[in-house]
Amino acid sequence: MESLLRSYWNLPVLLFFSLLLWKTCEARAGADSRPNILILMADDLGIGDVGCYGNDTIRTPNIDRLAKEGVKLTQHISAAPLCTPSRAAFMTGRYALRSGMASTNSIRILYWLGGSGGLPSNETTFAKVLQQQGYTTGLIGKWHLGVNCESYNDFCHHPLNHGFDYFYGMPHTLLGDCQLGKPLELGIVLRYRLWFYTQMIALAVFTIVVINLTGFFLFSWKIIFSLVLFGILFFISWYISFGFVRYWDCLMMRNYEITEQPMKVERTYSLIVKEAVSFIERNKKGPFLLFVSFLHVHTPLVTSERFIGRSRHGLYGDNVEEMDWMIGQILEVVDKQGLQNNTLTYFTSDHGGFLEAQQGDIQLGGWNGIYKGGKGMGGWEGGIRVPGIFRWLGVLPADTVIDQPTSLMDIYPTVIHLGGGKVPQDRVTDGHDLMPLLQRKVQYSDHEFMFHYCGVYLHAVRWHQKEVGAVWKAHYTTPVFHPEGAGACYGRRTCTCAGEQVTHHDPPLLFDLSRDPSESNPLSIATEPQFDTIVKKIEKAVEEHRTTLTPVPLQLTWWNNMWKPWLQPCCGTFPVCWCDQETENRHSHLQEVKD
Ligand SMILES: *[C@@H]1O[C@H](CO)[C@@H](O)[C@H](O)[C@H]1NC(C)=O
Ligand SMILES: *[C@@H]1O[C@H](CO)[C@@H](O)[C@H](O)[C@H]1NC(C)=O
Ligand SMILES: *[C@@H]1O[C@H](CO)[C@@H](O)[C@H](O)[C@H]1NC(C)=O
Repeated sequence: MESLLRSYWNLPVLLFFSLLLWKTCEARAGADSRPNILILMADDLGIGDVGCYGNDTIRTPNIDRLAKEGVKLTQHISAAPLCTPSRAAFMTGRYALRSGMASTNSIRILYWLGGSGGLPSNETTFAKVLQQQGYTTGLIGKWHLGVNCESYNDFCHHPLNHGFDYFYGMPHTLLGDCQLGKPLELGIVLRYRLWFYTQMIALAVFTIVVINLTGFFLFSWKIIFSLVLFGILFFISWYISFGFVRYWDCLMMRNYEITEQPMKVERTYSLIVKEAVSFIERNKKGPFLLFVSFLHVHTPLVTSERFIGRSRHGLYGDNVEEMDWMIGQILEVVDKQGLQNNTLTYFTSDHGGFLEAQQGDIQLGGWNGIYKGGKGMGGWEGGIRVPGIFRWLGVLPADTVIDQPTSLMDIYPTVIHLGGGKVPQDRVTDGHDLMPLLQRKVQYSDHEFMFHYCGVYLHAVRWHQKEVGAVWKAHYTTPVFHPEGAGACYGRRTCTCAGEQVTHHDPPLLFDLSRDPSESNPLSIATEPQFDTIVKKIEKAVEEHRTTLTPVPLQLTWWNNMWKPWLQPCCGTFPVCWCDQETENRHSHLQEVKD
């Protein structure tokens, strides 16, 4: 009896342990089947710049190869037409204004590395979820989502605080100022700097007036003091506005440590390739998430000598071809390590090409193919329709084209599910898992409506009416184009989102992208009998969308986007910031990449 009882007792224990064993094995088997994730993102690349998207004169064999071996999306849409908001939405799977990364003013990107705005710490990136699921996560290249909040080393917005185990790259963005001997960034950027400049002069005048009103100094001393003070403030403001941008913003970091300040942009491309290759080699046992965020093909188009003059499209084309070569180097190591079958590789661009980037007749920005508009514009297709290619040998079909509307925000749930994680349920997210569509298990994407923002302003809405195969797009606001500038705004300036430089449309400009992808012939009641019904349906969707928005602290206000000396990452003793750790290893670096 007693022994029987004991064995009865043992049964549940035995069961428990076998269950535990089974669970552990399952988890291990599960871990093995989870793919590595390799994300390749270009900066400012237009959809028309890529061979497999129809460009027959620019050579992008490595990107084309990804498309040949995988799925090419032809209606892949970025959540915003500009770096900071598009990347914030990409990392969080939600429209930028949900995280406060959308602007109400004319500066729509994080402007200084020493500003306090950035991706809030309570946002959960896909990297963070995958990190919790046991992935080794790395970011190599551009971040542009902020660094510090309150002190120069709190790193509240830093990649390492957003789920990356490893970061090597540029916490800010490439600017004209980063390359010695290149003209400074003009346009809107210049305006902002002048604003700072004027602010300092106003401060000087104010101080001088105050001093003169007090009886503190003798008259002659007052004049001398005023002149000296004015001179100092003038110099500081000039220095900060123009002279020192290269030191303030153009720097490279490894994790929390600054490796080069200012960076030597000419060698950055080789360092990025080397770091990406070495990350993959280090983590080949996987699973890993590697996000390679290229500085290419942003101005000033820093290109190595090997590629200068090689393309048929000037410096811009050379730069695109160099980036394609870099992708080739990274894919080669994936192949060499035998990881092709368990790595999901994704290629995209953060938004469309920069049409205003021109010097005389020379093109310095991307080409958006048949699509109207470009970088910085709210809703026009050219600024938001980007390449989107997925390759996962043996799992995704090869040489497949999918025309369904998809979003860069879809990467969020897609990679989280593949990594065995859960999409946070305590907030609204806007992406949909792409795997069923990519594997051709479903015919339609889950996107019925997409909202096209310019800063915090809703400029256009897309409605995919599956039953009839139409993709309606209603523009409520559009930028005013330069009369001769064929679909671009003035000078080297990005378009604005509000104010005098935009036109409001009531009723909205309506297009059917399935028949008119270039958005050239707006529909009217005369040409589209369903006009009113369509517009009403879209308006209802906008109302519903608005109910899902909650106010959050804005990250791109004047105050948050201002240069604050106490937040400036600095290698050395502020304001003397200088270091160059790479030079010591330069020879080995270059050697390895060349081999
Ligand atoms: C190919 O890309 C270049 C560079 O952006 C562009 O000038 C050219 O028009 C493109 N060609 C086609 C056929 O799209
Ligand atoms: C990848 O899968 C294919 C079949 O789908 C197989 O022929 C090939 O050997 C695999 N490669 C590796 C490196 O496992
Ligand atoms: C993050 O914090 C801000 C305010 O501190 C809040 O408004 C916002 O809803 C929070 N976001 C999330 C996703 O919890």
